[in-house]
Amino acid sequence: MKAITFDKYGVAGDVLHLEDIDRPTLDGDEVLIRVAAASVNPYDWHFMTGRPLIMRTQMGLRMKEASGLGGDLAGRVEAVGDAVTRFKEGDEVFGEVNGATADNPELELGTVAEYVAVSEDWLMPRPANFTPEEAAAVPLAAITALQGLRDYGKVQKDDRVLINGASGGVGTYAVQLAKFYGAEVTGVCSTRNIEMVRSLGADHIIDYTADDFTLGRPRFDLILDNVGNRSLRECRRVLTRGGMYLASFGQKHHKVMGPMATLLWMKIFNRFVPQDMVSLDQERKIEDLPFLTELMADGKLKSIVDRTFPLDQAVAAMDYLGEGHARGKVVITV
Ligand SMILES: NC(=O)c1ccc[n+]([C@@H]2O[C@H](COP(=O)([O-])OP(=O)(O)OC[C@H]3O[C@@H](n4cnc5c(N)ncnc54)[C@H](OP(=O)(O)O)[C@@H]3O)[C@@H](O)[C@H]2O)c1
Repeated sequence: MKAITFDKYGVAGDVLHLEDIDRPTLDGDEVLIRVAAASVNPYDWHFMTGRPLIMRTQMGLRMKEASGLGGDLAGRVEAVGDAVTRFKEGDEVFGEVNGATADNPELELGTVAEYVAVSEDWLMPRPANFTPEEAAAVPLAAITALQGLRDYGKVQKDDRVLINGASGGVGTYAVQLAKFYGAEVTGVCSTRNIEMVRSLGADHIIDYTADDFTLGRPRFDLILDNVGNRSLRECRRVLTRGGMYLASFGQKHHKVMGPMATLLWMKIFNRFVPQDMVSLDQERKIEDLPFLTELMADGKLKSIVDRTFPLDQAVAAMDYLGEGHARGKVVITV
């Protein structure tokens, strides 16, 4: 089968290969999926480039073995393991591959491929109102937005929530989920994305090319920052007393440290200010994808798919993602 692989860190054009590899074999609880679409996330970009360099202290200074690309997917069930109870051949599904967990620290990626074996626990039936591309866009980005708003921010009705980077993968889901929880939502985006972010439900828009969201009176209970382009001091001044600044970003521009310096400052700041300065660390929770699937099926959550690229243009897809200006999600069709 064909799959995108890489065995060293670097930019897409230097390291990604379209290869013929063996089809995955199935464990008892796994489902073999004929992939229709896989979305890519900044996470995949960081893992591919090995940047910021500080990540390599965990990932390894050099890659130890070849890796696949991508963690999100949608496709059709081709075969099921003996212990699988929820799916059968021919079912249309979406979900994510076995990312690293505390029990299983081995990270497995590789949804940008013709076939993938996935534990049935991390799959859901694809809602009929979603195309494979739209469904493949959901898992990592929407779960990040969900955990940020629900678990970290504990968003309640009428809370005032600002989403910086409202037009990106995480931001487009965050706007909709914050509205779902009853918040008054301000989205920060550029001029070309104003109508799109408004259509997702944002009550107020700040066009970052013309206005500065860190000016004005303290008015936000939660800032979900997917960009990290403003200082903590600037963001803090528009937070209410007791409000939270939640950083999801993994800035690419600092080659060595990435967002580490900011995250360290947040810990220091936290001791001296009345607001919470918190870093969002998305974790795998078995209940999140079923919850999102209900919202999708009910028409309460939709995907904005910016561009789709065929499998043999994975390099172009990763380069585009790496520019940091995707409108919603970037998807590779297989
Ligand atoms: N902590 C975690 O567990 C976790 C999980 C997932 C993702 N993340 C991180 O979260 C961040 C966001 O992810 P993502 O998937 O949303 O990224 P993304 O889709 O690549 O974000 C691109 C979007 O950011 C917007 N943007 C760029 N500069 C901006 C600015 N100055 N102000 C406002 N918006 C701006 C772009 O809009 P324009 O084109 O209009 O500029 C574009 O729509 C990334 O750093 C990622 O690594 C963290």
